[in-house]
Amino acid sequence: TKYDEPHRLQYHFSPPKGWMNDPNGMVYYQGEYHLFYQHYPDKNVWGPMHWGHAISKNLTHWKNLPIGLYPDSLGYIFSGSAVVDWKNTSGFGKNNKPPLIAMFTYHNPVGERAGTIDFQTQGIAYSNDNGRTWTKYAQNPVIKNPGIRDFRDPKVSWDEQHQQWLVTVAAQDHAEIWTSKNLKDWQRASSFGKEWGNHDGVWECPDFFQLSTPEGKKWVLIININPGAPNGGSGTQYFLGDFDGKNFILDESTKPYIQNNQGLWMDYGRDNYAGVTWSDVPQKDGRRILIGWMSNWQYAQKVPTEAWRSAATLPRVLSLQKTTQGYRLISEPVKELKDLRVANKSYVLPQAKTLSSESWTPKLGFKPTLSELEIEFEKPRSGKVSLVFSNTKGEKYSIGYDSQSNQFFSDRSQAGDHSFSKEFFEKIDIAPRFTENNTVKLHLFVDVASAELFADNGKTVMTDIFFPSENFNQFSIQSTEAGVKVKTLKIWALKKAW
Ligand code: FRU
Repeated sequence: TKYDEPHRLQYHFSPPKGWMNDPNGMVYYQGEYHLFYQHYPDKNVWGPMHWGHAISKNLTHWKNLPIGLYPDSLGYIFSGSAVVDWKNTSGFGKNNKPPLIAMFTYHNPVGERAGTIDFQTQGIAYSNDNGRTWTKYAQNPVIKNPGIRDFRDPKVSWDEQHQQWLVTVAAQDHAEIWTSKNLKDWQRASSFGKEWGNHDGVWECPDFFQLSTPEGKKWVLIININPGAPNGGSGTQYFLGDFDGKNFILDESTKPYIQNNQGLWMDYGRDNYAGVTWSDVPQKDGRRILIGWMSNWQYAQKVPTEAWRSAATLPRVLSLQKTTQGYRLISEPVKELKDLRVANKSYVLPQAKTLSSESWTPKLGFKPTLSELEIEFEKPRSGKVSLVFSNTKGEKYSIGYDSQSNQFFSDRSQAGDHSFSKEFFEKIDIAPRFTENNTVKLHLFVDVASAELFADNGKTVMTDIFFPSENFNQFSIQSTEAGVKVKTLKIWALKKAW
């Protein structure tokens, strides 16, 4: 694959051909990060789902492998997860090597067409050769449908404290936690969420894991929801709490923010969906790394790419930090991305600079088409600071901070074609700020057709895609208020990863 088609991202994962949606089966084993994904290899729209497969040693360079799982008589292979069964609890290990176990949803199109509601069940498969080939369990499904139409996206994990396997499953308007000793026999332990969080859409793709805080570990429950996101369409909400081996117990301090259909949101952009985290990242590394699908069900099947459709977000490290509202989920780009910086193509602002109300174009000496940027500026009194990426066709993408509303914004209204879908641009995306710090800090990654903003060290995140008719080759900064002080600015050209 040459990966040189118009709009093809150059340092993000995208499938060599055909359709992709959710990332699946992310597991780390023997030096390899596995990434499977919802895949229809034959067309550039959604269809009978397979698990496409790629691996990486460093989370930046991906190698495509043959398809991991094909649909069969029980159905399409919908989203799911994978783990290393270190103690061989499943008995599928061979030659003293632990098996990798994948758990996924079987979506039976025959049952769906017949108008039944029990056509989604959970199955497993195992691999004894580092994920290269998979054998489906002969007695699938391992979890039958309990009478819930949307019952899917199992995320398996080992619960060290209670010495059991957990699987978190999305069940239409709530999440269910099931437990097992051997990954084959499962019991339902509890349900959560009917009365909490946002319910404007179907709950999908959950994840459930612990993160450290100075006050001890907390459990994080991720719930993807479609529609219902703050700026429209598909989005990712989360809940914080505790776990007693059966029940998820909500953190009291978060309750005011997740009642009356409100949610806590991981990313305020339009294009980070179905994200879940890697299993089995070694303890000495200790990171909780998430990757999402960089699109939105409102328009994913219509975006103007031909040979392939959709990509994954950059991998992000999740953590918990105290904000003005209490603990919140923080996302930061993985440090491995620094290896993509081109050695002699970077720009560093030599000394603090005061902006006028005219647009300022720093002399980069390189094109910002594939770039990473870090800027710190003093919070304007009431004005707006925009980072503007533009091309010779008069198209531009602007992203920045508006002091008046105390919000970040991402504006793709003029960033190229959006005639393919009326939902693709309806209004400028906005996101709240979660700190009162007088310095605004933006960390931004721009690829050919995407922007990922990590503001205030990952307290506010926005991921958006766009389709300019020519790559963005110009960068400038605009301020509506004269006198705003830029304290630091660094820009790096990034390398292609393919
Ligand atoms: C989320 C989702 C999942 C499902 C998969 C099907 O985007 O709808 O719930 O398993 O996509 O491709």
